[in-house]
Amino acid sequence: MTIASMFSGCGGSDLGLVGGFSFLGKKYKKLPYDIVFALDNDAKAVETYNYNFNVPATLADIETFDIKNMPDFDVLIGGFPCQSFSTVNPTKNPFDKRGKLYKRMSQILSTKKPKFFIAENVKGLVVLQGGKIFEDIKKDFAAQGYIVKHKVFNAADYGVPQKRERVFIVGIREDIAFDFKFPEATHSEYGNGPRQWVPLKKVIDSLIPENPKYYFSKKAVEGMKNAKKNMKRGLSQSLEGPSLTITSHLAKVSLNSRDPVLLVDEKKEIYRRFSPLEAARIQSFPDSFKFPVSDASAYKQIGNAIPPLLMWHVASALAEQAKEKIITESHSIRKHSVRPKNVVLS
Ligand SMILES: C[S@@+](CC[C@H](N)C(=O)[O-])C[C@H]1O[C@@H](n2cnc3c(N)ncnc32)[C@H](O)[C@@H]1O
Repeated sequence: MTIASMFSGCGGSDLGLVGGFSFLGKKYKKLPYDIVFALDNDAKAVETYNYNFNVPATLADIETFDIKNMPDFDVLIGGFPCQSFSTVNPTKNPFDKRGKLYKRMSQILSTKKPKFFIAENVKGLVVLQGGKIFEDIKKDFAAQGYIVKHKVFNAADYGVPQKRERVFIVGIREDIAFDFKFPEATHSEYGNGPRQWVPLKKVIDSLIPENPKYYFSKKAVEGMKNAKKNMKRGLSQSLEGPSLTITSHLAKVSLNSRDPVLLVDEKKEIYRRFSPLEAARIQSFPDSFKFPVSDASAYKQIGNAIPPLLMWHVASALAEQAKEKIITESHSIRKHSVRPKNVVLS
């Protein structure tokens, strides 16, 4: 199936879709998807994307980009920008310009009529304003002729060394209609052995970083200690479990926030931030995926990404079920030698 990827960023979602990568010694097979179009308006993200993928992403603003210039494709994907929906930032107006970007996704559905779509967003979107906004978004997608389902995932349940909760919305074009089943969790907090949540120690080679620039200054540590005790600050992560969610402001991670950090030496009170390589691994990027940009740009792209491993599981479930549906339909067509109305064969 061919893919058009909106808000493609550095390509975390897209790597998950195409598969064919290894993470922590396990191979994630190539999936039957080919990316034919990708778009993002961040030049640095496009630079990373184009370094890692064969089909270059287009640098453009989705709001002004002419949809007619897109090739035809089978699946639309897009983690539409979420800052305004984030529970981390509940004071933001959810109806601001960014919050409306999903509308462009539904315009693309309406114009290009792909077979399927996969959208992703922060978990907070589901409960924002009593769930009304989320219902409106789902209705808008459904109105373009899709059966729409959603599920909130915790990336840790799929082998990502990070507790990251995100909602996936999957749409199946009405004429193809089947009851899409989201993939079952592969890991859990109390699972045994390889089924237990993947701990941070699997992706942090050493608490002492190669480059001292990742340490927080003495002043920052003092600042944290002087801050009110009842606030959550200096959230040093246990290496025995998955990390708390990493975000796009990783470059500005501070000890005076709820950002996850590492405690290198308790007695000496030495703290540090994750390196870009560690952050990428925490998001389940394989080491073969490169970020040929500054640390600041890499952190932003990594924190914004959909964990490739989580996307791989969702995309793999869709590919299998779509194939089954298409095989079943083609058997039934052969049996009755009449093509049922509205059945689309690829
Ligand atoms: C949540 S990130 C997507 C991450 C990506 N799917 C991944 O897995 O790596 C959202 C992306 O939307 C892009 N974006 C925001 N506003 C945009 C616009 N108006 N047009 C195109 N892209 C936009 C941002 O640059 C950012 O890369």
